[in-house]
Amino acid sequence: MCGIVGYVGPREALTVLLPALRRLEYRGYDSAGVATVHRGTLEVRKAVGKIARLEAVLQKDPPRGAVGVAHTRWATHGRPSDANAHPHTDCTASLAIVHNGIIGNYRELRQALAREGHRFHSQTDTEVIAHLIERHRENGLPEAMRRAARELQGAYAIACVTKEAPGMLVAVRCGSSPLIIGVGEGEVFLASDIPALLGETREILVLGEGEQAILRAGDITLCTLTGEPVQRSATTIPWDREAAEKGGYAHFMLKEIFEQPEAVRNTMRDRVDLEAGEIRIPELGLPDRELVGLNRLCFVACGTSLNAALVGKYLVEAFARLPVEVDVASEFRYRQPVLDSRVLTVPISQSGETADTLAALREAREQGARSVAICNVVGSSVAREADGVLYTRAGIEIGVASTKAFTAQLTALILLAVKLGLARGFADRALVRTVLKGLGDIPDLMAGVLAQNEMIRAVGARFAASRDCLYLGRGLHYPLALEGALKLKEIAYIHAEGYSAGEMKHGPIALIDEHMPVVAITPRGPTYEKMAANIEEVKARDGIVIAVATAGDSEIGVQADVVLPVPAALYWLQPLLVALPLQLLAYHMAVLRGCDVDQPRNLAKSVTVE
Ligand code: AGP
Repeated sequence: MCGIVGYVGPREALTVLLPALRRLEYRGYDSAGVATVHRGTLEVRKAVGKIARLEAVLQKDPPRGAVGVAHTRWATHGRPSDANAHPHTDCTASLAIVHNGIIGNYRELRQALAREGHRFHSQTDTEVIAHLIERHRENGLPEAMRRAARELQGAYAIACVTKEAPGMLVAVRCGSSPLIIGVGEGEVFLASDIPALLGETREILVLGEGEQAILRAGDITLCTLTGEPVQRSATTIPWDREAAEKGGYAHFMLKEIFEQPEAVRNTMRDRVDLEAGEIRIPELGLPDRELVGLNRLCFVACGTSLNAALVGKYLVEAFARLPVEVDVASEFRYRQPVLDSRVLTVPISQSGETADTLAALREAREQGARSVAICNVVGSSVAREADGVLYTRAGIEIGVASTKAFTAQLTALILLAVKLGLARGFADRALVRTVLKGLGDIPDLMAGVLAQNEMIRAVGARFAASRDCLYLGRGLHYPLALEGALKLKEIAYIHAEGYSAGEMKHGPIALIDEHMPVVAITPRGPTYEKMAANIEEVKARDGIVIAVATAGDSEIGVQADVVLPVPAALYWLQPLLVALPLQLLAYHMAVLRGCDVDQPRNLAKSVTVE
């Protein structure tokens, strides 16, 4: 996600835009830029990297003007670079826009605009918007923007200024990317998020879905994208700034847990053609004919990303009938793996900077293996050095414990498994359509699970004093058992082990007693009966069972001490739902134990050293 700010009023816009932009830097910091309008001239300044880099540029040559927009970027399309930094302008540099979100149909629009003679200078989806508005400029900026917005597909928040309307700032919003309007004395503010406004005003209006705001010094006009007037009164923000950066959540981790439906939706966006039952990932970098020739796939990753890779093994072997190995990256890089050009290595890394994963990728490439990275940070080292990349679009993940990146990785792995299966001729078309339709329903089902947060907090309170915990799962849910245990370990500092439930009788069953909770992942599916038997084995030894089960499953309700329900879903999609109660349980136990949830002891967000 990116950060947008805007200002129109009596002051020099830059004096308002920069401090406001700094308060949004947590939303992304690949590049930053500002555009103002002064005496009929549009002034644009940009810089790659954090806002401090932009400030250095501005000190030498500050843009003047009492109206302007600014942007801090989290790259989704196009690497971090000066050319890809926002704001973007039209052909005549008359207008400048900043954008947060994803334009799903930008390729087609870009081709049509290029045919009309528009010249592009970036690889971004955003630049298309500037030229679309330019195409309709004779109608005036508000109408031109409405017409442009009606041609866009996707979720976006856009703000625009033009030298042809010096005292005006226009914004539109469609889908999940928020836009907040701040009401001042004879001045108006615009921002992606509340923190940017704190310090200037606490009176805000939220721009609604499919609405446009036309802002002038001391005047706010709202309308729909067809120009119908919208009436809305301002509300007062109760938060302080630090609370606001977390969107009102107590921790970034909790905010990111609740951002998962959007992370999954964005990771799927413009990659699934439900009608045709196809997957489109142009940046994968490997044509279908090369996918057909593969004889093995090697996942390499660390931590939570490794747990996602283990889920990927089940998916790829089931859909593509391609043998899959999963390696701890720090082992892979030293075990002299046997690789060649018919092996596809897939490093999975949220940060794209994990030293072990990057080294494993380099080892694979040295041996001639092909590579496709699954990364969350555009332009990161792992993403850059692989042959191709499948970006998760979870947005910036600040909490050290990975949550939304994990479910975004699972989403990407489903897309990759189906893509490989279709290319290799093993995936059943009917099943593919069922899976892809089911995947489209997952964000709403996730929201339903997240609505149980208070109930899960109460369960966490009951077990927060535990010293040990065992997580059990089978099949696709075995990696989820590992992930649930990892979450509890890393943020609550409770010794927790994830185990294949079938392995319990080969040792861990000796640990079972009335003091150690056992989390049994038991949704309805191919492993259900076996899991139910494992629960019985635990209960027969006075164990305490917390079952993650399909909502309404009365049988498990009788067996288990506690049930954390998830909606019924296709087996292949269940991990996306099961992950949520596991994350929330660990989160609440950690908070109740007074742990630093966002920055757990001894950990770092990205382990860039061996
Ligand atoms: C997960 O919650 C941890 N933060 C950690 O295990 C992490 O998954 C691991 O360090 C890998 O990071 P990456 O995905 O950025 O490569």
